[in-house]
Amino acid sequence: SDIARVRNFSIIAHIDHGKSTLADRILEYTGALSAREMHEQVLDQMDLERERGITIKLQAVRLTYPADDGQVYTLNLIDTPGHVDFTYEVSRSLAACEGALLVVDAAQGIEAQTLANVYLALENNLEIIPVINKIDLPSADPERVRGEIERVIGLDASDAVLASAKAGIGVHEILEQIVSKIPAPTGDLQRPLKALIFDSHYDAYKGAIVYVRVVDGVIAPGVRMRMMATGAEYEVVEVGVFRPRMTAVDELRAGDVGYVAAAIKTVRDTRVGDTITNADYPASEPLPGYRRMNPMVFCGLYPVDSSDYPLLREALLRLELNDAALRYEPETSSALGFGFRCGFLGLLHMEIIQERLEREYGLTLITTAPSVVYHVYLTNHSMVEIDNPSLLPESNQIERIEEPYVKASIMTPKDFVGNVMELCQEKRGAFIDMQYLDETRVTLLYELPLTEIVYDFFDRLKSGTKGYASFDYELIGYRPSQLVKLDILLNGDVVDALSFIVHRDKAYQRGKLLCEKLKDLIPQQMFEVPIQAAIGNKVIARETIRAMRKNVLAKCYGGDITRKRKLLEKQKEGKKRMKQVGNVEVPQEAFMAVLKID
Ligand code: GTP
Repeated sequence: SDIARVRNFSIIAHIDHGKSTLADRILEYTGALSAREMHEQVLDQMDLERERGITIKLQAVRLTYPADDGQVYTLNLIDTPGHVDFTYEVSRSLAACEGALLVVDAAQGIEAQTLANVYLALENNLEIIPVINKIDLPSADPERVRGEIERVIGLDASDAVLASAKAGIGVHEILEQIVSKIPAPTGDLQRPLKALIFDSHYDAYKGAIVYVRVVDGVIAPGVRMRMMATGAEYEVVEVGVFRPRMTAVDELRAGDVGYVAAAIKTVRDTRVGDTITNADYPASEPLPGYRRMNPMVFCGLYPVDSSDYPLLREALLRLELNDAALRYEPETSSALGFGFRCGFLGLLHMEIIQERLEREYGLTLITTAPSVVYHVYLTNHSMVEIDNPSLLPESNQIERIEEPYVKASIMTPKDFVGNVMELCQEKRGAFIDMQYLDETRVTLLYELPLTEIVYDFFDRLKSGTKGYASFDYELIGYRPSQLVKLDILLNGDVVDALSFIVHRDKAYQRGKLLCEKLKDLIPQQMFEVPIQAAIGNKVIARETIRAMRKNVLAKCYGGDITRKRKLLEKQKEGKKRMKQVGNVEVPQEAFMAVLKID
């Protein structure tokens, strides 16, 4: 295709503002499969994505659009994931575009996630086309939202398209603006090949498929390609475009978006953000912005039934083929037996993997409380990274501990500012700034320890703002903190899977609350079970689970047999997620209890 008639764009929107619905309309209008059909037909294995109503994986679709100027244009729509866990993927897919539609709900207005993505788009010098969606809603206030876009983002919104993706209003105008406002790609066919990898997926027949935006040069089957960050080389087997099905073409040229297959064994070998060049005629510099993706949150995954360990290993191996960000390695816990320490981009990523393991592989798992990665500086001047609290060295060997910090921006209606500030304070946040978006809404900027966000921040923020706040964060580095390891002892034995790292000032309170919580969660046993919280050798809290009476059923509701059966069934169900720790039976909730003790 002629580069002058190519337009590469993506859609930026806050969750639920209508990105998928609009993409559907655009696909329908240009005669491609609808996005929902695509989900069903192409991505049916990712039903989780649809259920949770969030976009996890990027997609790229090539569309053909005959514009009002009489020319036929090739439009590449590159989809972006809509969650903070995947910010880096968003930034790479935006780097593959020249423009973006900014979809804002006409009733809700701008949200934190929208802003974060707009800034990413501006950093990538994209032309932004504002679209005010859902104008059909009775509560829609497009003029207020138009003003907000101008004031908050500083974009000219006088031409903003007033649209209803649901009712199909505004689609033609959106397509016309894409053609007239977004610049054609610039690229040089004569220069050495440079192609940006912005996503990948695993195909059982073709191996890892890389999604690329060609910036300079040409890529075609037979080319020996080199990944510039890793140095790995492969011979290109196939190149193609998504229509939305994978369709092979002869070559991809500067300005094009498409895929490359090269018998690559796993997506791990295809790094999002890396640059592909031609090994025989290489570019001297890679494209800017490549960053290795490091997992931020770790937890242990253990099969409830230890004979499922090989199945869990097999399942992780398969998921890893398709998920470059997932890390895992074998781990043993004296409490839980054989399992894996797994690393994730964030909490959502963690939940998705856990759910997939359970649903797609029929596993029943115990997950331990998530932990961030601590930098532990030792008295012998070395530094170790600790992602498993039970492995923290003895305190006399530790010079200091540093923990990851994030900069968080929280948007909230002004009535809830007090609640949000209180929450951030309690989470050891440092207030940075507060800005009024308009008369009713405020953005708060805080610096917070990442671990405090991992621990129930989302839930607390939601309940403190009746669901109205939105939230975004980015990592800003490591800072020293007064941190200690808190151990939990059941029946006198340390349960390694329950250890956690906590700020010294909170250790006593957290230890006490956790003991109380565990007392409620762990069922009575035939004997008395002491629960203790300790820092080193020093016990700071204690509770006792009293021994069970001889026969629970005997005192239960006289002789009603159905009640008894129900009780027995309930106990059986509860059993599924019980883990025998020493001689105490501990339910799954106990291992996560540390997350919900504030
Ligand atoms: P994620 O996939 O989670 O990022 O959400 P999304 O932004 O793609 O939102 P989606 O398209 O799934 O739409 C969210 C909800 O808004 C759905 O219930 C849609 O039916 C509804 N919706 C989308 N566009 C419109 C519109 O123009 N008018 C009205 N009334 N509802 C709309």
